[in-house]
Amino acid sequence: MAHEMILTETQGKVGIIRLNRPQALNALCDQLMTELGDALRAYDKDPAIAAIVVTGSEKAFAAGADIKEMKDRTYPAVYLNDFIGERWETVLEIRKPVIAAVAGFALGGGCELAMMCDLIIAADTAKFGQPEINLGIIPGAGGSQRLTRAVGKSKAMEMVLTGRMMDATEAERSNLVCRVVPAAELLAEAVKIGAKIGALSAPSVAMAKEAVNAAFEGTLTEGVRTERRLFLGLFATEDQKEGMSAFAEKRKPAFRNC
Ligand code: HXC
Repeated sequence: MAHEMILTETQGKVGIIRLNRPQALNALCDQLMTELGDALRAYDKDPAIAAIVVTGSEKAFAAGADIKEMKDRTYPAVYLNDFIGERWETVLEIRKPVIAAVAGFALGGGCELAMMCDLIIAADTAKFGQPEINLGIIPGAGGSQRLTRAVGKSKAMEMVLTGRMMDATEAERSNLVCRVVPAAELLAEAVKIGAKIGALSAPSVAMAKEAVNAAFEGTLTEGVRTERRLFLGLFATEDQKEGMSAFAEKRKPAFRNC
């Protein structure tokens, strides 16, 4: 399918999606979110792809949902059309690891999109924020929940109540991002993470993602139970035998994703 607001390319086993609506700082309008969802699903289905990188431009990962598109919407319309559910949560359905590579602004829905990805790697230029309060609204795609779980109550409360942005250094210190790199190296570093994942056993990668995600969804007891079920299940794979044999034989494993 032809896309107008995103660019896609692959580097080895890594599928890259670049949000590409520069005139609006990648404001996440319906069309862009639909295109992003289509591209995510296509990479998820593609057996040649092991991990996905979502990135934006140097100036903006995304400056939020499209305010101009939203501004005249009515309550019955946003409610009945399931404004958030219809397009915004596709990234949560993706079973392969999704890496957000953030440079510049990640605001409002842009910050929420990054937080819905499995991990965030930030350029030193990144700025994160939930400025919705300035528009008379609040975060609507999980920001009040995911930001709070990532950075804790006090900092999340300050950001959501005042709209204050956080720079990359603070984001790393606050555990919102896994790592900060120079802006010029952002995409290459994100792809490196994806490539590293691509060299591993796909069943263990999918289950590792499921296990870590379980920590966000439920109780500790449920999460530990999920982890144990997945861990034990991996002993049914040939890749577990290969991975452990390779270690014992002091050689590199040759995983076959089975
Ligand atoms: C629509 C946007 C936009 C947005 C920027 N633009 N952000 N258009 N929706 N979220 C447009 C501007 O209108 C402008 O268009 C162009 O992009 C460049 O932006 P400038 O403001 O001129 O750039 P700059 O002065 O560098 O300021 C950058 C900025 C500012 C600080 C990021 O653009 C800004 O505050 N944007 C809004 C951020 C925000 O409030 N996000 C939350 C949205 S609500 P023109 O045509 O004038 O050149 C949200 C809720 C999500 O995300 C809930 C889930 C659905």
